[in-house]
Amino acid sequence: MEKVVINESNYNVKKARILRTKEMTPQEKLFEIALEGRMSLDHEPGQFIMLSVFGVGEAPLSVSSSPAVRGSFDICVRAVGKVTSALHRLEAGDEVGIRGPYGKGFPIRILEGNDLLIVAGGLGIAPLRSLIKHVLYNRRDFGKVHILLGCKTPSDMLFVDELDLWNKRMDVYYECTVDRAAPDWAGHVGLITTLLPGVHLKPERTFAIVVGPPIMYKFVIKELLAKNIPERQILISLERHMKCGMGKCGRCQIQGLYVCQDGPVFNYADIKNMSEAL
Ligand SMILES: Cc1cc2nc3c(=O)[nH]c(=O)nc-3n(C[C@H](O)[C@H](O)[C@H](O)COP(=O)(O)OP(=O)(O)OC[C@H]3O[C@@H](n4cnc5c(N)ncnc54)[C@H](O)[C@@H]3O)c2cc1C
Ligand code: FES
Repeated sequence: MEKVVINESNYNVKKARILRTKEMTPQEKLFEIALEGRMSLDHEPGQFIMLSVFGVGEAPLSVSSSPAVRGSFDICVRAVGKVTSALHRLEAGDEVGIRGPYGKGFPIRILEGNDLLIVAGGLGIAPLRSLIKHVLYNRRDFGKVHILLGCKTPSDMLFVDELDLWNKRMDVYYECTVDRAAPDWAGHVGLITTLLPGVHLKPERTFAIVVGPPIMYKFVIKELLAKNIPERQILISLERHMKCGMGKCGRCQIQGLYVCQDGPVFNYADIKNMSEAL
């Protein structure tokens, strides 16, 4: 696999400031962040940054905004531990440190001209929002676009306003489902795999892009293979504990692959025989 060239500037922590925060659910917040001097991050959809909360630590986080937005970028963060909870306590005006962007994102040039089946489970929408925004901004470069979204309950749904806009578009097939309904929920109820039979696609020209919790991959991939989507056209993003984020420490290694550098986006054919990957 092609290795990312590391130079010293990749390792520098850049100063950045939180411009805006938005509570999306009790566990997840959206942060709009600007690098010092309003430098652009220049990320590709699917790449991640290492974010430092000074005095606490660093965490890998996917960039959630479109690459077309210059001068600031978004991350959507679930508070699960030390760094992410400390980040949730910060406000607009507070400083953070940023390294990156790192990793291989979604292969945009390869996706162009093809149909896309985007499958997002829970927080998987965070990196996929960057891809979806890019695709919708450059809509003519892609064939049919299907977006399937699943989450536990309606109140866990992220980016609700944007989902509504995607739902209204005539050039996107959009469906969402929840595992458990609420009294005012009139939509689909069931696991995300229950949405797949409703999708009619041409497997030879479809790329399936799946991001969600590890348990989801097994079941979704089984359905995609049953729809005859070639293994190389099934793309997933892996999450592993990381330290350096740039192929130096080995923390994220799975059987010789560095998730931070060879991924986090992989095609299924490359990892299907790695027992520790899925
Ligand atoms: C490439 C990549 C992109 C990510 N993108 C996002 C994102 O967009 N939004 C988001 O909220 N989170 C994302 N994560 C997960 C995020 O990095 C972890 O939740 C975070 O590092 C936890 O740090 P902490 O100090 O808050 O938690 P800790 O106090 O270190 O740990 C709390 C719990 O989280 C688990 N954990 C810690 N790091 C990871 C990890 N990397 N993967 C899985 N479990 C972990 C620990 O085992 C522990 O159970 C991403 C991870 C990777 C590798
Ligand atoms: S996190 Fe250090 S090698 Fe991947």
